Amino acid sequence: MPSSAPIGIFDSGIGGLTVAKAVKELLPKEQIIYFGDTLHLPYGEKSANSIRRYAIEISTFLKSKNCKSILIACNSASSVANDVTWNNLANDIILLNVIDPLTRYVQTSFNNELVGVIGTKATINSKVYQNKLEKHCIVRSLSTPLLAPMIEEGFINNKISSTVIEEYLNNPILKGVKALLLGCTHYPMIHNEIDRIYKGAVTVLDSNTWIALELQKQLTATDKLSLAQENPDEFYVSDKTDSFERSTRFFFGQSVELKEVKLS
Ligand code: DGL
Repeated sequence: MPSSAPIGIFDSGIGGLTVAKAVKELLPKEQIIYFGDTLHLPYGEKSANSIRRYAIEISTFLKSKNCKSILIACNSASSVANDVTWNNLANDIILLNVIDPLTRYVQTSFNNELVGVIGTKATINSKVYQNKLEKHCIVRSLSTPLLAPMIEEGFINNKISSTVIEEYLNNPILKGVKALLLGCTHYPMIHNEIDRIYKGAVTVLDSNTWIALELQKQLTATDKLSLAQENPDEFYVSDKTDSFERSTRFFFGQSVELKEVKLS
C-alpha cells in the first residue's frame, strides 16, 4: 500500500470531524476520507449489535477506498465495535480507536487519582473506560445523553448549554474528580465551556490530540507517512441534509462538500 493512501475516519455524524481536524493539523500531508453515518445517528442510543453492524459496513467501504489506516472516531463505536472492525480488516491496515490512546495516557498520568468519564449511554453502559482504567485509577462514569444532540443543534456557549453542562457536572458521581475524560467525539466542541465551569480545578481531557499523535507514531513506525497529499479529502454521509452540511463547517472550521452513499 503506498504511503500516499488515505486515512479513513468514521463517526455516527459530525463528532468525528473534531478528530479529522486534529489529524489534519498534525499531519497536513495526509489525505482523509471521512464517513458520517448520519442515517443511524445517534449511535449512543443504539444497541451494541446494531453499532457493530454499522462499523462493519463502514470499514468495508473505507477498505474499498484503499485506506492505509482507519480511525474509529466515535466512542460509542470504539466501545463495542473495535473487535469486529479489526476482524473485518487486513493486517496491513492500521486500526485506531479514540479510547486506547487517551486511556493509556490517563493510566500513567492520573495513577491512583479519582477520574470522571462522561459519554453516551452506549459508551458508559459498555464500561469500556472502567475496564481499561480501574487497575490504575478510581473511575466515576456518567452518561450524558443530552450533550451530543445539543451540540449537533449548535447549542454551545449559551445559556442552554451552560445549564445542561452544569447540571451534569454537578452530579454527585463526579464530585472530587481530578480529571474529566470527554468520552464522546462531540464533546471537544464544549471543552472550553467545561474548562470555564471547572475554573482550572479539574483537568479536562479529550481524545483528539492523543489519537492524532498515535496515528503519527504508527505511520512513522510502519514507514507509511505521506510525503505529499496527492488527492483531495473526501467526505461521505449516509443521509445528506442541508443542516448537516452547515454543521460540518461549524465542526471542521471550513466548508466541506458532502457526498451521500448508501451502504445497505
Ligand atoms: N460521536 C459519538 C461518540 O463519540 C456520539 C454521538 C452519537 O450518539 O452518535 O460516541
